[in-house]
Amino acid sequence: MAPESSVIETIAYFSASTTSWSEDELTHLLQVCRANNLSADVSGFLIYVDGSFLQWLEGPPIAVNRIFEKISLDRRHTRVSPIFKGRLGVRHFTKWSMAFIPKEDISAEVSSEIADIRALRHGGGFLTDAPRLARRVTDNFLRINRF
Ligand SMILES: Cc1cc2nc3c(=O)[nH]c(=O)nc-3n(C[C@H](O)[C@H](O)[C@H](O)COP(=O)(O)O)c2cc1C
Repeated sequence: MAPESSVIETIAYFSASTTSWSEDELTHLLQVCRANNLSADVSGFLIYVDGSFLQWLEGPPIAVNRIFEKISLDRRHTRVSPIFKGRLGVRHFTKWSMAFIPKEDISAEVSSEIADIRALRHGGGFLTDAPRLARRVTDNFLRINRF
């Protein structure tokens, strides 16, 4: 068994925003995310599109679960629905304590992935191929070349 410190837990979820976010509010949220996640060794991404959030959190299991619990209680969004939870064995977003893709920079691939996930979630489904989503999002980041 791998030592606990090298176990990477991943949680990805979809949620519905309860407020409309201004640029400043989103920037502030990302500052909080980045500071907390960095000190907890958690990485991931956040996408905000058409009133929905899609977030990916990965890192030490205790830290990821603790942060996810806090996020779940946040009243700025609701219907927090995990679409994936598991130990993938690797970290996909090492460099990003919380990367953000603005709506205008979402690639066609990621956009279609989100549409698939949304349909899956409405059917009460779970994302079985989470690494595919990770790959699409990573490609998107590389394409916009901002990170
Ligand atoms: C969509 C969404 C995503 C969030 N993601 C994170 C996150 O990745 N890390 C984090 O620490 N807080 C995140 N938060 C904020 C938490 O809900 C909470 O406000 C924050 O962790 C409190 O930080 P504090 O304990 O330092 O005051 C998120 C909130 C929302 C609405």
